[in-house]
Amino acid sequence: MAEEVLTGLTSRPKFCSPKFLYDQKGSELFEKICELPEYYPTRTEEAILARAVPEIANLAGPGATLVEFGSGASRKVRLLLECLSVNRYLGIDISREFLINSTRRLAADYPWLEVHAACADFTRPVDLPQDIEPNRLVGFFPGSSIGNFTPQEAEGFLKGLHRLLPPGSGLLLGVDLVKDQKTLEAAYNDLSGVTAEFNLNLLDRMQRELGLAIDRNRFRHHAFFNPRESRIEMHLESRVAQVLRFNGQTIRFREGESIHTENSYKYSVPGFKNLAARAGFSGRRVWVDEKGLFSVHYLVASP
Ligand code: AVJ
Repeated sequence: MAEEVLTGLTSRPKFCSPKFLYDQKGSELFEKICELPEYYPTRTEEAILARAVPEIANLAGPGATLVEFGSGASRKVRLLLECLSVNRYLGIDISREFLINSTRRLAADYPWLEVHAACADFTRPVDLPQDIEPNRLVGFFPGSSIGNFTPQEAEGFLKGLHRLLPPGSGLLLGVDLVKDQKTLEAAYNDLSGVTAEFNLNLLDRMQRELGLAIDRNRFRHHAFFNPRESRIEMHLESRVAQVLRFNGQTIRFREGESIHTENSYKYSVPGFKNLAARAGFSGRRVWVDEKGLFSVHYLVASP
């Protein structure tokens, strides 16, 4: 983390990978975000999944292993487990304690299910654990987490998954849709300030874990929609000109200069289908809510 953070803070423009937002505190704050009135993705996706689950069960068929990327609190997968006849579940997440606790609860609540957990950074190439035979997999990547990648990175990520999943495997993906700027920006600038807290927690984490003397009060949360790139950008903007010392390096901020902490890309249904096709996945079915806010794709790995 120290190395990656230092690279980002000494780059121009400054950035920090959004995966570092998810320490224990950050993962808890993210769960709070999911319940905010302004944050439409979670409840919209859950409603779509709840309605689509019989069809998803048909597409997935019986006896598959469900692999979830960025499993977090493993809440959404419960909607699937009630209906799909899978016998194994593997949760992959970067937040260790959070992963252990949520997969434990899953194992307790679904005694017939074989539950596995792997603490991994899936933005890097991952292999499946040795004891998971790679036949009959269904990947699950909900929440539009794919939106954290640039479209090019998303394609690379899906290509990596394609190597992991045998031909014919399913991939169930949640993808947030482009919409009016007001709705998008409200979702990342909630009135209760939870998203700001989630963003600023990154600075606390740098201080706590890396010993970086960085003062959160000298930064502000800034999130906006960039229509040219079709993405929400989240930044930590320096309120003042300041100089930090870290590992023998000097990090200078101009007043108003920011650390770009997250992108959240928004797609159209055909736009995302094309991206998936370039990575070797064909679209089998897509569900969208009545308001056209969010999409869930069922893709199949082509040979
Ligand atoms: C988990 C990446 C899908 O981009 O909407 C929520 C993260 N950041 N509010 C998103 C997030 C600020 C979220 N993803």
